[in-house]
Amino acid sequence: MSLPATPKIPFGGDYNPEQWPPEVWKDDYRLFDTARIDTVTVGVFTWALTQPAADVHDFSTLDRIVAEAEEQGRRIVLATGTGAHPAWLARAHPEVTRTDFEGRRHRYGQRHNSCPNSPVFRRLSAEVAGRIAERYAGRPPVIAWHVGNEYGGACYCERCAAGFRVWLRARYRTLDALNSAWCTAFWSHTFSDWEEIEPPSALTEHWRGPDHTAFQGITLDYLRFMSDAMLANFRDEKAAIRRHSPDTPVTTNFMGMYRPIDYHRWAPHLDFASWDNYPPEDAGPAWAALSHDLMRGLKDGLPFWVMEQAPTTTACRDVNPVKRPGVMRLWSWQAVAHGADAVLYFQMRASRGASEKYFGAVINHAGRDDTRVFREVAALGEELERFGDVALGARTPARVALLFDWDSWWTLEISDGPSRLVRYQQVVLAYYRALWEAGVDVDVVAVTADLSGYDVVVAPALHMLKGDLPQRLEDVARRGGSVLATYLSGRVDESDNAFLSDVPGPLGPLMGIRIDEWDARGADVVNPVRLQAGGEVLEAGARLVFELVVPQGAETLGAYGADFYAGTPAVTRNSFGAGHGWYVATGLDQPGVDWVVRQVLAAHGIAGRVPELPCVESAVRVAPDGTRLLFLLNHGDEAVEFAAPAAGVDLLTGARTEQGGTLALAGYGVAVLREDG
Ligand code: GLA
Ligand code: ZN
Repeated sequence: MSLPATPKIPFGGDYNPEQWPPEVWKDDYRLFDTARIDTVTVGVFTWALTQPAADVHDFSTLDRIVAEAEEQGRRIVLATGTGAHPAWLARAHPEVTRTDFEGRRHRYGQRHNSCPNSPVFRRLSAEVAGRIAERYAGRPPVIAWHVGNEYGGACYCERCAAGFRVWLRARYRTLDALNSAWCTAFWSHTFSDWEEIEPPSALTEHWRGPDHTAFQGITLDYLRFMSDAMLANFRDEKAAIRRHSPDTPVTTNFMGMYRPIDYHRWAPHLDFASWDNYPPEDAGPAWAALSHDLMRGLKDGLPFWVMEQAPTTTACRDVNPVKRPGVMRLWSWQAVAHGADAVLYFQMRASRGASEKYFGAVINHAGRDDTRVFREVAALGEELERFGDVALGARTPARVALLFDWDSWWTLEISDGPSRLVRYQQVVLAYYRALWEAGVDVDVVAVTADLSGYDVVVAPALHMLKGDLPQRLEDVARRGGSVLATYLSGRVDESDNAFLSDVPGPLGPLMGIRIDEWDARGADVVNPVRLQAGGEVLEAGARLVFELVVPQGAETLGAYGADFYAGTPAVTRNSFGAGHGWYVATGLDQPGVDWVVRQVLAAHGIAGRVPELPCVESAVRVAPDGTRLLFLLNHGDEAVEFAAPAAGVDLLTGARTEQGGTLALAGYGVAVLREDG
């Protein structure tokens, strides 16, 4: 099973009409028609509405919402409503609330607050999902099921402790295997009974916070266990849905680069991937591009949905700026460019009260159709309607893969040493950004992905090496490809124990180096690195971590300029088979990373499409019928002109462009060229 079948890119989003009297709904429907809103996500927080007490079920409001959508021909993504549990449930069964990292058992409040290992929660949430599916399965408007909402967080209660022990028994079978994996000979931790094992929290292994642990192996397994426990919650509900609805696709809304949940382990259980795109302030356009590519990688390159994005301002941050005119449209097209087959918002109408009443909405509190935001949404709705189905199902033809690995993320950031200043997302983003600025399509994939089709594989901060990955990376190079790895890669096995060999462990032969020791310095210490290959020279700066490389066959492309290791390699390239292993042993600044990535791409003749304008993003999607769509997006606020990288018709304006002809984009402007076939 795959994505919901739709005649065009679904446009709309979260709609919570239960907050208003039905008179208001009429206005909503009129405004939806004006804005070409054809799809609404309904029921995300309706548990208390449909089950107001343990033995009372009331579907009257939801029935009406579904019936009216049906009358209007609007499509529905129907949620199970379990993103927040009702107050009566927490009162009757205090075990459904979570116990936090500090060991405090929470009382009723907030949302996303259910203990994933509470048997009562598991049973009742599945029952809710089953009842919703039973009642609405097969109704024409229902095109997808939306389970829960933004799964995340963690619980440390007694039931989770017991669940952890069960999970560990399944993983390790024997205490000997567990003691070995966790290196419990250290600090006299040898466990002689499964019941002795405690969840790693502020009361047990941790000091200072969730990233500071005495036993990385224990904390790593708890992260894996929590991710799996919430996956079990998702699967409980999905199974309940499937009993009534055998073939309507099921998803849940992910959060892109969200650390607590290993989306690669979840992905096989979703029929299609969807996510909520809320870029951090000042993240830059590469952040969202990377997140989209990561989400597309979850289902083997199949399109995904943007389940939520803000039409304008957020509300949860300290300062919540509006999206500048044109930016919402630009980011919507950016999503489509990277493989989104749906453009949905949170939210349709601004909440009347509580914490999200100032969160931007398509329709404001006054219900106006002449606000700037509404006009921009309506204009995009019209544009997407004209755009039609041409991009649906289209794939990204990437020759470059970037490996993204939750285990590496976790182990890098819970590690004591060498530096707390190295953040996984920042390292990944620096390398992704270099590819993005080069205008190259990238698949962001799991370490288990098939790498045989790629010319270039980039592995930033791949701290953990598992399974046959080292061999598969060697295969990439052996057949002529390039593998680019960075500092702090190849350090630990899947239990977070150091390899008993030279660093970078099993990557050593491919990289043709060994690391003798590694230095870490404060953020203000910069070691100059002179990069040189052929005639291309760049003076870059390096920060945070400085690995001391002893070449074992690799050639030096850049050397440190300062400290006792001045003159020793910082960047290397090793011939391996018909290809190369490239290694960056330090935290190069962005120009340095860009330089290395450019060398790698050049070795494979992979060139950017609009190299002279870094603010112009380009991405290609190839439709099932072979149609090639070239998306060109100007992230700058000023108009630009450049030579068209291909000939074709801009599907947004109907204008024809010849290859090399002048293409003009307004500030935040977009063109989608259907390339001549
Ligand atoms: C998330 C949630 C929504 C809403 C928005 C806005 O994405 O899924 O319910 O809270 O954020 O904050
Ligand atoms: Zn719990």
